[in-house]
Amino acid sequence: MLLELAARRQVLFVGGKGGVGKTAVASAVALAQARAGRRVLVVSTDPAHNLGHLWQRTVGDTVVPLTDGLDGLEIDPARTTDEHLAAVGHTMRRLMPEHLSGEVTKHLELARDAPGTHEAAVLERIAEVLEEPQHDLVVFDTAPSGHTARLMTLPETMSAWTEGLLRRQDRSARFGAAMRAMDDDGAAADIVGTGRRRDRREDRDQEIRRILLRRRTRFAALRDLLADGERTAFVIVLAAERLPALETVELYGRLLRAGVEVGALVVNKRSPADRGEFLARRHAQEEVHLDTVRAALPHVPLVQLPLLAEDVVGERALERFAEEIARSR
Ligand SMILES: Nc1ncnc2c1ncn2[C@@H]1O[C@H](COP(=O)(O)OP(=O)(O)OP(=O)(O)O)[C@@H](O)[C@H]1O
Ligand SMILES: [Mg+2]
Repeated sequence: MLLELAARRQVLFVGGKGGVGKTAVASAVALAQARAGRRVLVVSTDPAHNLGHLWQRTVGDTVVPLTDGLDGLEIDPARTTDEHLAAVGHTMRRLMPEHLSGEVTKHLELARDAPGTHEAAVLERIAEVLEEPQHDLVVFDTAPSGHTARLMTLPETMSAWTEGLLRRQDRSARFGAAMRAMDDDGAAADIVGTGRRRDRREDRDQEIRRILLRRRTRFAALRDLLADGERTAFVIVLAAERLPALETVELYGRLLRAGVEVGALVVNKRSPADRGEFLARRHAQEEVHLDTVRAALPHVPLVQLPLLAEDVVGERALERFAEEIARSR
Protein backbone atom coordinates (compact mmCIF):
# COMPACT_ATOMS: atom_id res chain seq x y z
CA MET A 1 0.00 0.00 0.00
CA LEU A 2 2.74 2.46 1.05
CA LEU A 3 4.94 1.45 -1.87
CA GLU A 4 2.08 1.80 -4.37
CA LEU A 5 1.37 5.24 -2.93
CA ALA A 6 5.00 6.26 -3.53
CA ALA A 7 5.25 4.56 -6.93
CA ARG A 8 2.64 6.84 -8.45
CA ARG A 9 3.99 10.11 -6.99
CA GLN A 10 6.86 12.56 -7.49
CA VAL A 11 6.90 13.73 -3.90
CA LEU A 12 6.34 11.92 -0.62
CA PHE A 13 6.27 13.68 2.76
CA VAL A 14 6.79 11.58 5.86
CA GLY A 15 5.72 13.32 9.07
CA GLY A 16 4.89 12.49 12.66
CA LYS A 17 6.14 12.84 16.21
CA GLY A 18 9.74 12.41 17.33
CA GLY A 19 11.15 8.90 17.43
CA VAL A 20 8.22 7.10 15.79
CA GLY A 21 10.29 5.95 12.80
CA LYS A 22 9.96 8.72 10.19
CA THR A 23 13.54 8.45 9.01
CA ALA A 24 13.38 4.64 8.88
CA VAL A 25 10.11 4.64 6.91
CA ALA A 26 11.26 7.46 4.57
CA SER A 27 14.57 5.70 3.90
CA ALA A 28 13.05 2.25 3.39
CA VAL A 29 10.37 3.51 0.98
CA ALA A 30 13.02 5.52 -0.88
CA LEU A 31 15.24 2.43 -1.07
CA ALA A 32 12.40 0.24 -2.36
CA GLN A 33 11.61 2.81 -5.05
CA ALA A 34 15.28 3.03 -6.06
CA ARG A 35 15.40 -0.78 -6.32
CA ALA A 36 12.32 -0.53 -8.56
CA GLY A 37 14.40 1.56 -10.96
CA ARG A 38 13.43 5.13 -10.08
CA ARG A 39 15.96 7.86 -9.34
CA VAL A 40 15.20 8.82 -5.76
CA LEU A 41 16.33 11.54 -3.36
CA VAL A 42 15.61 11.36 0.36
CA VAL A 43 15.77 14.75 2.09
CA SER A 44 15.74 15.42 5.82
CA THR A 45 14.24 18.79 6.77
CA ASP A 46 14.45 18.07 10.50
CA PRO A 47 17.19 20.17 12.14
CA ALA A 48 17.97 17.15 14.33
CA HIS A 49 19.00 14.95 11.41
CA ASN A 50 19.44 11.21 11.71
CA LEU A 51 19.50 10.20 8.05
CA GLY A 52 23.28 9.83 8.21
CA HIS A 53 22.98 7.64 11.29
CA LEU A 54 20.54 5.24 9.59
CA TRP A 55 22.69 5.04 6.49
CA GLN A 56 25.89 4.82 8.52
CA ARG A 57 27.57 7.62 6.63
CA THR A 58 27.95 11.39 6.69
CA VAL A 59 25.19 13.02 4.68
CA GLY A 60 25.09 16.81 5.20
CA ASP A 61 23.92 19.77 3.20
CA THR A 62 24.97 18.64 -0.27
CA VAL A 63 23.46 15.71 -2.16
CA VAL A 64 25.44 12.47 -1.64
CA PRO A 65 24.83 9.01 -3.15
CA LEU A 66 23.52 6.51 -0.54
CA THR A 67 23.19 3.49 -2.80
CA ASP A 68 22.40 2.74 -6.48
CA GLY A 69 19.66 5.10 -7.63
CA LEU A 70 19.28 6.72 -4.22
CA ASP A 71 20.75 10.04 -3.03
CA GLY A 72 20.47 11.74 0.35
CA LEU A 73 20.47 15.32 1.62
CA GLU A 74 20.16 16.87 5.09
CA ILE A 75 19.04 20.48 4.85
CA ASP A 76 21.04 22.56 7.31
CA PRO A 77 18.62 25.28 8.48
CA ALA A 78 21.37 27.57 9.83
CA ARG A 79 23.34 27.45 6.58
CA THR A 80 20.15 27.73 4.51
CA THR A 81 19.12 30.81 6.53
CA ASP A 82 22.60 32.38 6.14
CA GLU A 83 22.57 31.78 2.39
CA HIS A 84 19.01 33.02 2.08
CA LEU A 85 19.80 36.24 3.99
CA ALA A 86 23.05 36.77 2.06
CA ALA A 87 21.12 36.54 -1.23
CA VAL A 88 18.42 38.91 0.05
CA GLY A 89 21.13 41.32 1.30
CA HIS A 90 22.93 41.23 -2.03
CA THR A 91 19.72 42.09 -3.88
CA MET A 92 18.74 44.81 -1.40
CA ARG A 93 22.16 46.48 -1.55
CA ARG A 94 22.09 46.44 -5.33
CA LEU A 95 18.66 48.05 -5.40
CA MET A 96 18.99 50.58 -2.56
CA PRO A 97 21.04 53.77 -2.43
CA GLU A 98 24.55 53.13 -1.14
CA HIS A 99 24.19 55.18 2.05
CA LEU A 100 21.50 52.73 3.26
CA SER A 101 23.84 49.73 3.12
CA GLY A 102 24.38 49.86 6.91
CA GLU A 103 20.61 49.80 7.43
CA VAL A 104 20.31 46.73 5.22
CA THR A 105 22.90 44.90 7.32
CA LYS A 106 21.11 45.85 10.55
CA HIS A 107 17.75 44.79 9.15
CA LEU A 108 19.09 41.41 8.04
CA GLU A 109 20.74 40.78 11.41
CA LEU A 110 17.34 41.28 13.03
CA ALA A 111 15.64 39.13 10.39
CA ARG A 112 17.98 36.21 11.16
CA ASP A 113 16.20 35.58 14.46
CA ALA A 114 12.73 36.78 13.44
CA PRO A 115 9.94 34.20 13.61
CA GLY A 116 9.42 32.56 10.24
CA THR A 117 12.80 33.43 8.67
CA HIS A 118 14.17 29.99 9.35
CA GLU A 119 11.08 28.23 7.98
CA ALA A 120 10.98 30.53 4.96
CA ALA A 121 14.59 29.65 4.20
CA VAL A 122 13.89 25.91 4.50
CA LEU A 123 10.85 26.32 2.26
CA GLU A 124 12.91 28.15 -0.34
CA ARG A 125 15.35 25.24 -0.24
CA ILE A 126 12.54 22.66 -0.60
CA ALA A 127 11.29 24.57 -3.65
CA GLU A 128 14.82 24.54 -5.06
CA VAL A 129 15.20 20.78 -4.49
CA LEU A 130 11.87 20.11 -6.21
CA GLU A 131 12.79 22.28 -9.21
CA GLU A 132 15.82 20.19 -10.12
CA PRO A 133 14.96 17.46 -12.62
CA GLN A 134 17.53 14.79 -11.60
CA HIS A 135 15.13 12.69 -9.49
CA ASP A 136 11.85 10.92 -10.25
CA LEU A 137 10.83 10.84 -6.59
CA VAL A 138 11.79 13.07 -3.67
CA VAL A 139 11.00 11.71 -0.19
CA PHE A 140 10.97 14.30 2.61
CA ASP A 141 11.75 13.08 6.09
CA THR A 142 10.25 15.98 8.04
CA ALA A 143 10.53 17.41 11.54
CA PRO A 144 8.00 16.42 14.23
CA SER A 145 4.36 17.33 13.62
CA GLY A 146 3.81 21.03 14.35
CA HIS A 147 6.68 22.21 12.25
CA THR A 148 5.56 20.18 9.24
CA ALA A 149 2.00 21.49 9.27
CA ARG A 150 3.37 25.06 9.44
CA LEU A 151 5.69 24.34 6.55
CA MET A 152 2.79 23.12 4.45
CA THR A 153 0.84 26.37 4.93
CA LEU A 154 3.86 28.56 4.27
CA PRO A 155 3.67 28.63 0.44
CA GLU A 156 0.15 30.09 0.84
CA THR A 157 1.29 32.69 3.37
CA MET A 158 4.34 33.61 1.40
CA SER A 159 2.58 34.00 -1.93
CA ALA A 160 -0.04 36.21 -0.22
CA TRP A 161 2.81 38.27 1.23
CA THR A 162 4.55 38.52 -2.14
CA GLU A 163 1.24 39.52 -3.79
CA GLY A 164 0.91 42.33 -1.23
CA LEU A 165 4.42 43.55 -1.96
CA LEU A 166 3.76 43.44 -5.70
CA ARG A 167 0.61 45.52 -5.32
CA ARG A 168 2.46 48.06 -3.19
CA GLN A 169 5.24 48.16 -5.73
CA ASP A 170 2.71 48.68 -8.54
CA ARG A 171 1.17 51.59 -6.68
CA SER A 172 4.50 53.19 -5.87
CA ALA A 173 5.70 52.72 -9.47
CA ARG A 174 2.55 54.45 -10.72
CA PHE A 175 2.98 57.19 -8.14
CA GLY A 176 6.63 57.60 -9.19
CA ALA A 177 5.67 57.82 -12.85
CA ALA A 178 3.05 60.50 -12.10
CA MET A 179 5.57 62.49 -10.03
CA ARG A 180 8.13 62.24 -12.80
CA ALA A 181 5.59 63.39 -15.41
CA MET A 182 4.91 66.47 -13.29
CA ASP A 183 8.63 66.98 -12.83
CA ASP A 184 9.19 66.84 -16.62
CA ASP A 185 6.47 69.44 -17.26
CA GLY A 186 8.03 71.94 -14.91
CA ALA A 187 11.73 71.38 -15.32
CA ALA A 188 13.37 72.42 -18.54
CA ALA A 189 16.79 72.64 -17.01
CA ASP A 190 19.16 69.74 -16.42
CA ILE A 191 17.21 67.43 -18.72
CA VAL A 192 20.12 65.02 -19.14
CA GLY A 193 20.62 64.51 -15.37
CA THR A 194 16.91 64.00 -14.65
CA GLY A 195 16.63 61.51 -17.49
CA ARG A 196 19.48 59.44 -16.18
CA ARG A 197 18.09 59.40 -12.65
CA ARG A 198 14.69 58.37 -14.01
CA ASP A 199 16.25 55.51 -16.01
CA ARG A 200 17.99 54.25 -12.89
CA ARG A 201 14.78 54.39 -10.90
CA GLU A 202 12.81 52.61 -13.59
CA ASP A 203 15.48 49.91 -13.89
CA ARG A 204 15.32 49.42 -10.13
CA ASP A 205 11.51 49.21 -10.11
CA GLN A 206 11.63 46.68 -12.93
CA GLU A 207 14.23 44.60 -11.12
CA ILE A 208 12.24 44.56 -7.85
CA ARG A 209 9.16 43.52 -9.80
CA ARG A 210 11.04 40.76 -11.55
CA ILE A 211 12.35 39.36 -8.24
CA LEU A 212 8.92 39.48 -6.59
CA LEU A 213 7.28 37.84 -9.58
CA ARG A 214 9.87 35.07 -9.58
CA ARG A 215 9.18 34.39 -5.88
CA ARG A 216 5.45 34.43 -6.43
CA THR A 217 5.73 31.96 -9.30
CA ARG A 218 8.00 29.71 -7.24
CA PHE A 219 5.71 29.58 -4.18
CA ALA A 220 2.56 29.20 -6.26
CA ALA A 221 4.17 26.23 -8.06
CA LEU A 222 5.20 24.69 -4.73
CA ARG A 223 1.72 25.18 -3.25
CA ASP A 224 0.13 23.59 -6.33
CA LEU A 225 2.53 20.66 -6.15
CA LEU A 226 1.90 20.05 -2.43
CA ALA A 227 -1.86 20.27 -2.86
CA ASP A 228 -1.92 17.99 -5.91
CA GLY A 229 -2.78 14.52 -4.66
CA GLU A 230 -1.75 12.98 -7.99
CA ARG A 231 1.84 14.20 -7.64
CA THR A 232 2.32 14.49 -3.88
CA ALA A 233 1.43 12.17 -1.03
CA PHE A 234 1.73 12.75 2.68
CA VAL A 235 2.00 9.99 5.26
CA ILE A 236 1.93 10.27 9.04
CA VAL A 237 3.95 7.78 11.05
CA LEU A 238 2.72 7.09 14.58
CA ALA A 239 3.03 4.80 17.54
CA ALA A 240 -0.08 2.98 18.77
CA GLU A 241 -0.23 4.96 22.00
CA ARG A 242 -2.80 7.33 23.46
CA LEU A 243 -1.21 10.74 22.83
CA PRO A 244 0.32 9.95 19.44
CA ALA A 245 -3.10 8.65 18.32
CA LEU A 246 -4.83 11.88 19.38
CA GLU A 247 -2.12 14.05 17.90
CA THR A 248 -2.29 12.18 14.61
CA VAL A 249 -5.99 13.00 14.30
CA GLU A 250 -5.15 16.63 15.06
CA LEU A 251 -2.29 16.77 12.54
CA TYR A 252 -4.51 15.20 9.90
CA GLY A 253 -7.05 18.02 10.39
CA ARG A 254 -4.42 20.72 10.21
CA LEU A 255 -2.94 19.32 7.03
CA LEU A 256 -6.36 19.01 5.47
CA ARG A 257 -7.10 22.64 6.28
CA ALA A 258 -3.80 23.52 4.59
CA GLY A 259 -5.05 21.73 1.46
CA VAL A 260 -2.91 18.63 1.92
CA GLU A 261 -4.56 15.22 1.94
CA VAL A 262 -2.94 12.47 3.98
CA GLY A 263 -2.56 9.30 1.87
CA ALA A 264 -1.87 6.85 4.69
CA LEU A 265 -1.22 6.47 8.39
CA VAL A 266 1.71 4.24 9.24
CA VAL A 267 1.50 2.63 12.65
CA ASN A 268 5.06 1.59 13.40
CA LYS A 269 6.53 -0.74 16.02
CA ARG A 270 3.37 -2.80 16.56
CA SER A 271 3.81 -5.34 19.33
CA PRO A 272 3.33 -8.97 18.23
CA ALA A 273 0.13 -10.71 19.37
CA ASP A 274 1.71 -14.19 19.40
CA ARG A 275 4.91 -13.84 21.44
CA GLY A 276 3.76 -14.40 24.96
CA GLU A 277 1.08 -13.01 27.20
CA PHE A 278 2.76 -9.72 28.05
CA LEU A 279 3.13 -8.68 24.41
CA ALA A 280 -0.34 -9.98 23.58
CA ARG A 281 -1.79 -7.65 26.21
CA ARG A 282 0.32 -4.79 24.86
CA HIS A 283 -1.01 -5.60 21.37
CA ALA A 284 -4.60 -5.47 22.64
CA GLN A 285 -3.94 -2.15 24.39
CA GLU A 286 -2.54 -0.74 21.12
CA GLU A 287 -5.72 -1.84 19.34
CA VAL A 288 -7.75 0.37 21.68
CA HIS A 289 -5.72 3.44 20.67
CA LEU A 290 -5.87 2.52 16.99
CA ASP A 291 -9.65 2.23 17.26
CA THR A 292 -9.70 5.91 18.25
CA VAL A 293 -7.82 6.74 15.05
CA ARG A 294 -10.00 4.46 12.92
CA ALA A 295 -13.16 6.00 14.34
CA ALA A 296 -11.95 9.58 13.71
CA LEU A 297 -10.45 8.92 10.27
CA PRO A 298 -12.34 5.92 8.87
CA HIS A 299 -11.49 6.65 5.24
CA VAL A 300 -7.70 6.94 5.66
CA PRO A 301 -5.72 3.74 4.94
CA LEU A 302 -3.87 2.50 8.01
CA VAL A 303 -0.67 0.54 7.45
CA GLN A 304 0.91 -1.43 10.30
CA LEU A 305 4.59 -2.30 10.72
CA PRO A 306 5.90 -4.71 13.35
CA LEU A 307 8.28 -3.88 16.14
CA LEU A 308 11.61 -5.40 15.11
CA ALA A 309 14.12 -6.98 17.47
CA GLU A 310 16.86 -4.64 16.25
CA ASP A 311 17.25 -1.01 15.24
CA VAL A 312 16.84 -0.15 11.58
CA VAL A 313 20.43 0.86 10.87
CA GLY A 314 22.38 0.21 7.67
CA GLU A 315 21.36 -0.73 4.15
CA ARG A 316 20.71 -4.40 4.93
CA ALA A 317 18.35 -3.54 7.82
CA LEU A 318 16.61 -0.94 5.67
CA GLU A 319 16.12 -3.58 2.96
CA ARG A 320 14.46 -5.88 5.49
CA PHE A 321 12.33 -3.01 6.74
CA ALA A 322 11.32 -2.26 3.13
CA GLU A 323 10.26 -5.94 2.81
CA GLU A 324 8.05 -5.49 5.89
CA ILE A 325 6.58 -2.40 4.26
CA ALA A 326 5.93 -4.35 1.03
CA ARG A 327 4.15 -7.08 3.07
CA SER A 328 2.15 -4.65 5.22
CA ARG A 329 -1.52 -4.00 4.76
N1 LIG B 1 9.70 -1.06 13.37
C1 LIG B 1 10.76 -0.81 14.14
N2 LIG B 1 11.21 -1.72 15.00
C2 LIG B 1 12.28 -1.49 15.79
N3 LIG B 1 12.97 -0.34 15.77
C3 LIG B 1 12.56 0.62 14.94
C4 LIG B 1 11.45 0.44 14.07
N4 LIG B 1 11.30 1.57 13.35
C5 LIG B 1 12.27 2.41 13.75
N5 LIG B 1 13.04 1.84 14.70
C6 LIG B 1 14.15 2.44 15.45
O1 LIG B 1 13.60 3.46 16.26
C7 LIG B 1 14.47 4.57 16.36
C8 LIG B 1 13.74 5.80 15.84
O2 LIG B 1 13.49 5.66 14.45
P1 LIG B 1 13.68 6.88 13.45
O3 LIG B 1 15.00 7.48 13.65
O4 LIG B 1 13.34 6.42 12.10
O5 LIG B 1 12.55 7.83 14.04
P2 LIG B 1 12.27 9.33 13.68
O6 LIG B 1 10.81 9.51 13.72
O7 LIG B 1 12.97 9.71 12.45
O8 LIG B 1 12.93 10.07 14.91
P3 LIG B 1 13.30 11.62 15.03
O9 LIG B 1 12.01 12.32 15.24
O10 LIG B 1 14.20 11.65 16.22
O11 LIG B 1 13.97 12.00 13.75
C9 LIG B 1 15.70 4.22 15.54
O12 LIG B 1 16.66 3.72 16.39
C10 LIG B 1 15.19 3.12 14.60
O13 LIG B 1 16.22 2.24 14.25
MG1 LIG C 1 14.32 11.25 12.00
